[in-house]
Amino acid sequence: MTDSPIVFSGMQPSGDLHLGNLLGALRPWVLEQHLFHNYFCVVDLHALTVPQDPLLLAAKSRELVALYIAAGIDPVRSTLFVQSHVHEHSELAWILGCFTPMGWLERMTQYKDKSRKSERERTSSGLFNYPVLMAADILLYKTNFVPVGEDQRQHLELTRNIANRFNGLVGETFVIPEPRIGHMGAGAKVMSLQEPGTKMSKSAESDAGLIALLDPIDQVRAKFRRAKTDSGTGVDLESPSAGVANLLEIYRALTGCTSDTLRSEFDGIGYGQLKDKVADRAIAAIEPIQARYRELTADPATLDAILRRGADAAREVAAETMSAVQGRLGLLPAAGG
Ligand code: TYM
Repeated sequence: MTDSPIVFSGMQPSGDLHLGNLLGALRPWVLEQHLFHNYFCVVDLHALTVPQDPLLLAAKSRELVALYIAAGIDPVRSTLFVQSHVHEHSELAWILGCFTPMGWLERMTQYKDKSRKSERERTSSGLFNYPVLMAADILLYKTNFVPVGEDQRQHLELTRNIANRFNGLVGETFVIPEPRIGHMGAGAKVMSLQEPGTKMSKSAESDAGLIALLDPIDQVRAKFRRAKTDSGTGVDLESPSAGVANLLEIYRALTGCTSDTLRSEFDGIGYGQLKDKVADRAIAAIEPIQARYRELTADPATLDAILRRGADAAREVAAETMSAVQGRLGLLPAAGG
């Protein structure tokens, strides 16, 4: 295991974890965790880039760790930890910021989208610097692969650019990480069930288009039944509308089925039937996660112990990278250190 390639990934503990997060990231993490040495992080500092209620943020951080495990992450095999428990993330982010041109950050589409929603005067500089903290997360652990959804591709490209720039200017220090996106064949970009032109997102205005992993099961079915399709009557696999294509994509991601199976199961069937079949598969994936989640949250001491152990393991590697960075830059080691 120690020689295995290193994987790092994380999720924000804001909003409700949803089917897009599961299919784009969490399931690929689970399915491939035996191949890698994994770090899975709850990125609470990233969540602070927009206003948060403190009690809710703490509750959501715990909820997220429990959901990681409930979905199948093995806390013995993989290191699970909370970003703010390892202070090297913030420290390295500052240093990397000094090597990141503003122009690179100004081109980030997620920043442009989010800062358009709230006006510029109220947008925090944290939101602007968000991808630098993400680069720090990844680079601290000598990461080889970063399994994420399609929406993180640009941030990963930026991480690689920052690492290359630092290595070029200061000397070989960081491993250059590779994105791992869409390698399961489906699920890298799950769209909203109501607005299939936009991705399923925690920050969407209404939650009718979002299947939260902790939604009551009857609500999951009802949301699929109300999913937008089009005015046709049956599935046309040659030119499906965006809504139908999204339902088929969700089905493919949930079952791992081939296009031949998709054809024999769906070509020409009615939309009602399509929605029910996809809902059945989604519920079969979500129900056991909910059951395991309830068990885990009944035992907060065990979750705390997992996080403590995870932070200790993460800190060890993070401290090693930080001291290499400090040495490169001429930052004086603390006396006695
Ligand atoms: P976050 O919390 O928005 O999303 C967590 C993961 O879920 C994926 N995802 C989706 N995949 C498919 N379809 C969707 N509709 C969908 N929505 C979200 C995301 O791509 C992501 O993999 N910046 C990151 C968190 C982060 C991070 C990191 C990730 C911070 N540091 C270092 C990897 C490595 C984020 O906000 O993800």
